Amino acid sequence: MAGGGGEQVEATPIAAIGRHVGEEVEVAGWLRGLRSSGRIAFLQIRDGTGVCQAVLAAEQVTPEAYRVITALGQESSLRVRGQVRADARAPGGYELLAQSVLPLQDAVDYPITPKEHGVEFLLDHRHLWLRSPRQAAILRIRAELEAALMEWLDQHGFVRVDAPILTPNAAEGTTTLFDVDYFGESAYLTQSGQLYMEAAAMALGKVYCFGPTFRAEKSKTRRHLIEFWMLEPEMAWAGHAENMAVQESLIAHAVQRVLDRRSTELQLLERDVTHLSRVAPPFPRITYDEALRILASKGLALEWGEDFGAPHESALAESFDRPVFVERYPAKIKAFYMQPAPDRPEVVLAADLLASEGYGEIVGGSERIADPDLLAERLREHGLSGDVFSWYMDLRRYGTVPHAGFGLGLERLLAWVCGLEHVRESIPFPRLLNRIRP
Ligand code: 4AD
Ligand code: MG
Repeated sequence: MAGGGGEQVEATPIAAIGRHVGEEVEVAGWLRGLRSSGRIAFLQIRDGTGVCQAVLAAEQVTPEAYRVITALGQESSLRVRGQVRADARAPGGYELLAQSVLPLQDAVDYPITPKEHGVEFLLDHRHLWLRSPRQAAILRIRAELEAALMEWLDQHGFVRVDAPILTPNAAEGTTTLFDVDYFGESAYLTQSGQLYMEAAAMALGKVYCFGPTFRAEKSKTRRHLIEFWMLEPEMAWAGHAENMAVQESLIAHAVQRVLDRRSTELQLLERDVTHLSRVAPPFPRITYDEALRILASKGLALEWGEDFGAPHESALAESFDRPVFVERYPAKIKAFYMQPAPDRPEVVLAADLLASEGYGEIVGGSERIADPDLLAERLREHGLSGDVFSWYMDLRRYGTVPHAGFGLGLERLLAWVCGLEHVRESIPFPRLLNRIRP
């Protein structure tokens, strides 16, 4: 088959062909669909930047070439040369009057056809599913969110510091650890970079890490991934109030940038953006105790000291038009490092940020314990070995200061921004309880 090697002109991205009306360009991409008669063929071509229609009249090529081209399968790779014409009816607003079509490969029996497929089938073919317009739109919004979040942090004096993936420390409880044999020593895939960010904050002031984190969670819900990406800012000399202020400004900025720059993608996802356009500081703040009262009034009463489940988080978030902070949780249901409230030590200066529309917790954060004695006591209570945490104790031995930080789950944020039903679509290759392939 023709194509491959040889001299190739640089292809014009489909997203840019509007700037070449009347000119001849070459587009390189994949065949999304094709309609043809004996005299004329319409090829839908996508190249990652956009989609355009190429119109090929039979007399432009030899009869044999026309036969080959019109028999190409979905997702065949090809290059098309032609003149750009503005046409309001064409998808994207422009079409290509093809002078030549050079197939690189005829793809036979592409498994994902325009008909409906079950989600397990699609997940089995995730490596191909990514090519569908909806999945590509989600990936673009994901990249926009990542860039926007880091843009805000970089502009506000935070330094990116990368945390290790292999660690001897259990940061978020010992029940969801992935064991790794580290040359005979026991180690885990990281649950959170927080402890390392606390060290980095003592060196640099304001820092953040962004990377994959792992939880061997036996939960099969629409919000749980086994591997997910977490953004974790940490600030020296900051407390609980400043921690929440940073979160709301950061999230408002990121959502606004997606609204500004990814409206085409949000539209393709049929996302109702009214909720998103309200995402401006300040976000409402309620205490855990107030949350219990709201829940009781909705028939979801909990005992003081019980943790929220998904239905509770949804019910709470439904009561507000933008994300809501729930703060001052009972210490016993939260992590060992959280600072007790000075006025009421049975609660901690922690907040979870719950997204509207039932998406639940997208951020968890807290002020950290600065006092060495209290931290040592908490480590003992949680059965965490002093040996492995000795380096972490050093941060309190040598110039301890109040500090605070949080972890934002990128896929939860993205699922909410895109209005996805399940978090599995928010990561390129989801790792789920029953799935590590592809
Ligand atoms: O609340 P978590 O467990 O907090 C921490 O790990 C802290 N050490 C973070 C910190 O303070 N630096 O997780 C933080 C966020 C959650 O709010 C949620 O958005 C996300 O990470 N997350 C998950 N996302 C997808 N799948 C899972 N299994 C998740 N577990 C947590
Ligand atoms: Mg949490």
